[in-house]
Amino acid sequence: MVKKITLAFAILLSVSIFAQKQARIVEDFNKNWNFKLGDYPEAINANFNASDWRTLQLPHDWSIEGAFDKDAKTKQAQGFLPAGKGWYRKTFTIPASWKSKTISIEFDGVFKNSEVFINGKSLGIRPNGYISFGYDLSPYLNFGQANIIAVKVDNDAQPNSRWYTGSGIYRNVRLVTSEKLHVGKWGTFVTTPEVSTKKSKVHLEVTIDNDNDTAREFTLVTSILDAKNKEVANKISIEKISAKTFETKVHNLDVLKVQLWNTENPYLYKVVTKIYEKSVLVDNYETPLGFRYFNFDSEKGFSLNGIPTKIYGVCLHHDNGALGAVENIHAVRRKLTLMKEMGVNAIRMSHNPHSLEMMQLCDEMGFIVQDEAFDVWKKKKVTNDYHKDWDAWHKQDLVDFIKRDRNHPSVMMWSIGNEIREQFDSTGIAITRELSKIVKSLDVTRPVTSALTENVIEKNFIYQSGALDLLGFNYKHEDYKDFPAKFKGQKILASESVSALETRGHYDQSDVIKAWPTKYGAPFDGNADWTVSAYDQVKSYWGATHEENWKTIKSQDFMAGTFIWTGFDYIGEPDPYPYPARSSYFGIVDLAGLPKDVYYMYQSEWSKKTVLHILPHWNWTKDQEINVWAYYNNADEVELYLNGKSLGKKSKQNDDLHIEWKVKYEPGTLKAVSRKNGKVVLEKEIETAGQASKIDLKADKTSIKNDTYDLVYVTVSMLDKDGNLLPNAMDLINFEVTGGGKLVGVDNGYQANLESFKSNSCKLFNGKCVVIIQSNGKKDNVQLKASTGNGIPISSINIKVN
Ligand code: GAL
Repeated sequence: MVKKITLAFAILLSVSIFAQKQARIVEDFNKNWNFKLGDYPEAINANFNASDWRTLQLPHDWSIEGAFDKDAKTKQAQGFLPAGKGWYRKTFTIPASWKSKTISIEFDGVFKNSEVFINGKSLGIRPNGYISFGYDLSPYLNFGQANIIAVKVDNDAQPNSRWYTGSGIYRNVRLVTSEKLHVGKWGTFVTTPEVSTKKSKVHLEVTIDNDNDTAREFTLVTSILDAKNKEVANKISIEKISAKTFETKVHNLDVLKVQLWNTENPYLYKVVTKIYEKSVLVDNYETPLGFRYFNFDSEKGFSLNGIPTKIYGVCLHHDNGALGAVENIHAVRRKLTLMKEMGVNAIRMSHNPHSLEMMQLCDEMGFIVQDEAFDVWKKKKVTNDYHKDWDAWHKQDLVDFIKRDRNHPSVMMWSIGNEIREQFDSTGIAITRELSKIVKSLDVTRPVTSALTENVIEKNFIYQSGALDLLGFNYKHEDYKDFPAKFKGQKILASESVSALETRGHYDQSDVIKAWPTKYGAPFDGNADWTVSAYDQVKSYWGATHEENWKTIKSQDFMAGTFIWTGFDYIGEPDPYPYPARSSYFGIVDLAGLPKDVYYMYQSEWSKKTVLHILPHWNWTKDQEINVWAYYNNADEVELYLNGKSLGKKSKQNDDLHIEWKVKYEPGTLKAVSRKNGKVVLEKEIETAGQASKIDLKADKTSIKNDTYDLVYVTVSMLDKDGNLLPNAMDLINFEVTGGGKLVGVDNGYQANLESFKSNSCKLFNGKCVVIIQSNGKKDNVQLKASTGNGIPISSINIKVN
């Protein structure tokens, strides 16, 4: 029962909110774990000798540390990297004075089949490698003495995925300590039943756990803070809860003059929940809050805050290139920054729950999120995938996924599955209804969708279930034109499209385009060096070129938008190439994070930047006929010059997305000039590169935090004496990192590179590679030295520590 609170008490409490310190303690629990590959059931015991185990900091992925092996059980789909079993173990103490508290451990993701033991006692198993989970450790802890936590990870049964998963505790781990009366796990749910810049309504449900043996009376305080931490609304109530139970309490608040969250100005508020017992703060908990409203319309597509907004989306897998599955907020921010600069406004979390950092940064950086739960249901795609765990786990996994993510303002769609096999058989009807019901029991503010491939109504049982609010279709862009008539009144999105292939910096000049086989299983007549031309011409037989797809989406208003497969290359699924190809070709950006040319087509269409980009490079054989392409915007025409001589003006006609010339090669300078109303908008020059003379090192940051997590990405390029990139350079570069950093990954973006991502050297590919340096915790400046050993001077850069 909510008692009436006097004004004086309310004022007293709201003042004291800010005076009191935190009650909940959230600790980084990533450090000082021991790890060993293999199976060690005895490791759960206190007297187990782990002296030969490696000490490491989580997150950790042991697959990425291994060698590529043609015969790996993971197969090509997972990039020929090893999997297997591994154990983690950690000793820790908890102060004796914390006996009265609830102490739990939170895992953001363990791939896969984890079992967690505390002081010899199993806390539970979790088959799903993408799901976040936790356990209450309190009943089993030795207060004031040593405790042993052991985690078994079993990724042995292979193949179990269509892409690279990684193995181990690859996301963050935290220890959370609170009083016995506290906000439950993912215990808040905030919605905004009314949003307007004048006055908005906030509805907050808080689930409170009372782990005490006695009933409790407490004060629940909700405070909404704006981005500058200024309170804009509050609510206080006196509540009661019985012993050993949990209950949900509700606060409704009004907020005046809100700033809306959108993709350009992702303004974030936060809800601070505090629990007081006899005016002592016993728990504090934060929930992100964004004020936005959106709508999918069967004729007009998507709108955000009333403004028609095409979804300019990309699908992303969870790996971080050379870091493997290891999650790191700096790696995620770099990926999202590259996407943002390209003009992307939406991310599809393919095909499974992503990390907390990913969700948090989508809120902060302004991306519309399609959050996705599953790639398989009961029917398998590969032998040992999630279908084996479906019966026992899908309900719990779906509930936990929604509860974890439903407070993120960025999330605007719940996808219950990607290209699910059950769309082709009648069991799909019941399962779709069941899943949709689970989602709606937890959140009715976002549509339920699924990424379908079958657009023949009689053949698609997921569609026939009638339980989808939004239809996602993958590929077959030529069919879209028929959809409004066929799926009358339905809201439609191209949940996945394109699957075109490119290798960064590789350009085939032949008029015969090396293409994907026209049928599944037909021999692939690709390049002998496993490259694919970076002109946007090569596509999978089910896909489209980037231009074909975008022209279709752009011209069809009913289509809410598109998610391109994929924003980045990812490890695994290098179809259609055989070994040694081990990572995908589908990315708009390569695995190392270096954009392919088509990045600029999207930038010219999706972003507000003024763009002029020309391709290819300018190092060819005399008199060779070269296709020169330009992507541009905000101009009427582009004029091309070779060594000062005009090769003519061109402009995009009709729905063209690029212009092109055929140019007889001669060395020198190729220059493009874009003009509007006769005035120069932009100029771009590419010069024929001469002899290699300098290793250029460009860091993405000037300083690094000494926190053992921060990352600096250094792009390495081979230049001639005038600073031109050598577009064909393949030199082996040796790296040495000293001071406050260590090398944690190298990559050149070449899909068939079998050198280890963990090596101290890397071959340039088409002139470039990337080195990733991580803080090692020392408060020293970092120095990176790069050398070739073939006469080119050693280069070095310093990165300040702060
Ligand atoms: C899609 C699938 C993706 C990926 C892609 C490759 O059908 O949903 O996961 O496999 O094909 O083109």
